[in-house]
Amino acid sequence: MCGIVGGTSNRNILPILIEGLRRLEYRGYDSAGVAYKTNGKISLVKNAGRVDDLAAKLNLKTNKSNIGIAHTRWATHGVPSEKNAHPHNSKNNIYVVHNGIIENHSALKEMLKKEGFKFSSQTDTEVIAHLIQLYTEKGKDLDSAVISTIAKLKGAYALGVLDKNNPDTLIGVRQQSPLVIGEGFEEKFIASDIMALSNITNKFKFMDDGQIAILEKDQITVTSSSGVAARLKTQEVDSNAYTNDLKGYSHFMEKEIFEQSDVIKDSLEGRLTKNESQEGIFGVGFEKEMKNISNIQIIACGTSFHAGRIFEFWSHKFLGINCRVDYGSEYQYQEPIKTDKTLLITISQSGETADTLSSLKFAKKSGDPVTLTICNVANSSLCRESDYALLTKAGPEIGVASTKAFVTQLACLNLLLLTLMRVHNKLPAARKKITAALKDLPKLINKTLKMTGEYKQVAKLLFKRNSALFLGRGLYFPIAREGALKLKEISYIHAEAYPGGELKHGPLALIDKNMPVIALAPDNEHLAKITSNIEEVAARKGKVITIGPLGRTKIDKNGGHIKIPKTLDLLNPIVSVVPLQLIAYYTAVFKGTDVDKPRNLAKSVTVE
Ligand code: M6R
Repeated sequence: MCGIVGGTSNRNILPILIEGLRRLEYRGYDSAGVAYKTNGKISLVKNAGRVDDLAAKLNLKTNKSNIGIAHTRWATHGVPSEKNAHPHNSKNNIYVVHNGIIENHSALKEMLKKEGFKFSSQTDTEVIAHLIQLYTEKGKDLDSAVISTIAKLKGAYALGVLDKNNPDTLIGVRQQSPLVIGEGFEEKFIASDIMALSNITNKFKFMDDGQIAILEKDQITVTSSSGVAARLKTQEVDSNAYTNDLKGYSHFMEKEIFEQSDVIKDSLEGRLTKNESQEGIFGVGFEKEMKNISNIQIIACGTSFHAGRIFEFWSHKFLGINCRVDYGSEYQYQEPIKTDKTLLITISQSGETADTLSSLKFAKKSGDPVTLTICNVANSSLCRESDYALLTKAGPEIGVASTKAFVTQLACLNLLLLTLMRVHNKLPAARKKITAALKDLPKLINKTLKMTGEYKQVAKLLFKRNSALFLGRGLYFPIAREGALKLKEISYIHAEAYPGGELKHGPLALIDKNMPVIALAPDNEHLAKITSNIEEVAARKGKVITIGPLGRTKIDKNGGHIKIPKTLDLLNPIVSVVPLQLIAYYTAVFKGTDVDKPRNLAKSVTVE
């Protein structure tokens, strides 16, 4: 949510900042801006709209600078507009870019107004620029003014600060919103994530909450929020992994869907033996701690929540361990109940989702769980806050709609299932079968990816509709929900998912010839009942499309069936989600929406 990039260098920084913003645009894309210094003067260029519009306005051919900060915005306070776009400034001296929310901004605004400061935006960010200015006017140097300012702020924020009177210094602050430092030869950068700078450097320092980084071309000083010096080690990352190349695909979402067979392979690589999960993959001490676990709590949001709901079924069936799944945004509203030793799992692509992160912190405060995160981003906040982490290895996911992250989350949750089954000595024969099926999964995903003609046929039935209904039972209900989420977020078609049995308790009233219904028809004990639900829809002239491993593929203007490859029932949801992703994708393409950057959304939701 919002992207920050800034840097100081001997070379012209502006193309680096603009390319950094392009690479960060998936985090927010309603407006953008840049502040840069040339000959002691700071210029400010802002724009409502996309980074490309900003680049055109900036005129990269003539303008040059060695130090600057830039921002791409996802609006929280105030409409997307040029006025509300960052950077914000105070008295043309202090310039600030911000990711996060300042919860006490109203009180600070009142106080600053009394001090004579004028506000020109509706944002919460502007108070930060004025506070820093206020403290410098009171005689503090820039570093101390920033320290005094953050002592006043409540909320989550990552900041980039530029001061007209400190021509060679750039300041970065991290407090519950991500910020990394990139290092080059005689040039230093800050950014919301590695992606922004991976074409510039592979050397990064990962800041901790409460830290301030003072960057000069040839030096980085990091301190705590009280000014005590801190040391951060430099880590080398594989910057090739952070490419923003579409590799011939039309959209990142399409590319990421078609990568799914490979990324599942990557996430299983070296983590399975012939018949089992490999010992130690969750880190030293994890398996010992798991012996005493009698309760599992999962916290996640959106697509990651759906992965958690599937694990809930696996846990009950194969482990006999009670598992509860809560939304990150809801978990804290339930009074915590003391239970025996709990394994608390957070699931997240970004590792920065504020709702999930704050619930993890809450759970740690109110109990003593063993915490594990299934996460796609090493060094993310969730990885750092958790006792254990298993990286999903999906590679960077850029499309706002989560796809390859989901299937790798499920592959990793399956590794967790196998590990807990081994630790708790459950069902050795089943473990062997699951292991074999898991290894086979990439092949089946590949086959499923090939049926694009059928998915396009279904998309043609959908793209002119206003609504669609998704049905599933048991562990296919979370998949139905995932299908509805994909369709609604990128095609803006209202889509809902229901457990098949709930249809007659209300939603059946919606069915007529204009309502397409997509039903998951597995080869398990639920088939007969879901078939009855499908009949109920057909009897009311609804168009039904079924997806499952039985029958023959046939689609016409009235609906039909898509046959997918068959595997063990517990893994079939992973195969079933692929058609739903591609149906949503082609529907959005036919509608002509902005697939990778759907309206109002952002990839990494770093505000609660
Ligand atoms: O990074 P996370 O997995 O924690 O993100 C959670 C949700 O914000 C995310 O899955 C969101 O729902 C996606 N846009 C769904 O496609």
